[in-house]
Amino acid sequence: MEAAAGTGLRCSLNPVPNPRKISARVRFTTKRQPCAATCRPLLLRPSASAYTAAIDSGAGGYSGANKRLAVFVSGGGSNFRSIHEAALGGKVNGDVAVLVTDKPGCGGADYARCNGIPVVVFPKSKSAPEGVSTDELLNVLRDLKVDFVLLAGYLKLIPGELVQAFPRSMLNIHPSLLPAFGGKGYYGSKVHKAVIASGARYSGPTVHFVDEQFDTGRTLAQRVVPVLANDTPEQLAARVLHEEHQVYVEAVAALCEDRIVWREDGVPLITSQANPNEYM
Ligand code: GRF
Repeated sequence: MEAAAGTGLRCSLNPVPNPRKISARVRFTTKRQPCAATCRPLLLRPSASAYTAAIDSGAGGYSGANKRLAVFVSGGGSNFRSIHEAALGGKVNGDVAVLVTDKPGCGGADYARCNGIPVVVFPKSKSAPEGVSTDELLNVLRDLKVDFVLLAGYLKLIPGELVQAFPRSMLNIHPSLLPAFGGKGYYGSKVHKAVIASGARYSGPTVHFVDEQFDTGRTLAQRVVPVLANDTPEQLAARVLHEEHQVYVEAVAALCEDRIVWREDGVPLITSQANPNEYM
């Protein structure tokens, strides 16, 4: 469902599920919040007829049903936002069904509430007693018929049961060229500080499948940016983040269009939308 055209606000396009029908014991934050600071002009999904016309004209496109996405966030959520906007704009053949966070007050959670996306807190902790257990979260994801899990700045290690429940269906984005500068402790500005200190001349984001350790799953996509002689960690982070927003959207679009093929040795490759025999 689309928000009424002309409201000028981006607050909620997705019908919010009835929490009572989902997992009885799990509390969602589903009420749309007033959040003027984060509501910007609405990006409208193209009309069905425009989309069909694009496919008929051979302009490329995917005719399958939209995939259902769960996005996990601990911070500001700019990657979450770019994926959500791409989904609303028709670039990603998916719908964000739920936002999962360990930090219920983070920017990503605020953005979700503003856009009518249910928020689930995971895991339960002293500072987040409203959080759910792994089993409860799995039930929620099943009830919401989630196809793919996207980690976008979620800082906790994902429990094995959750990883195993989404084989080849869980992605993460990391702000360095893995396998360099990854693993426990490499997050946020620590990554960029380490890159600069190493003298590396290039950096960039990696999108990878998630396994049971930090940043070790199979690489799906990368982008390269230069590390400049006088870069501060903040400057390098901004250059990398700009690329993150592009490469994560492209990888998620490919995932949602079944354009990922697995090489015999287990390396995932993205096929081109225009020509399935070419790799991106
Ligand atoms: C990004 O740099 C991402 O690579 C890392 O965490 C950061 C999240 O940023 N995993 P944002 O919350 O998407 O702005």
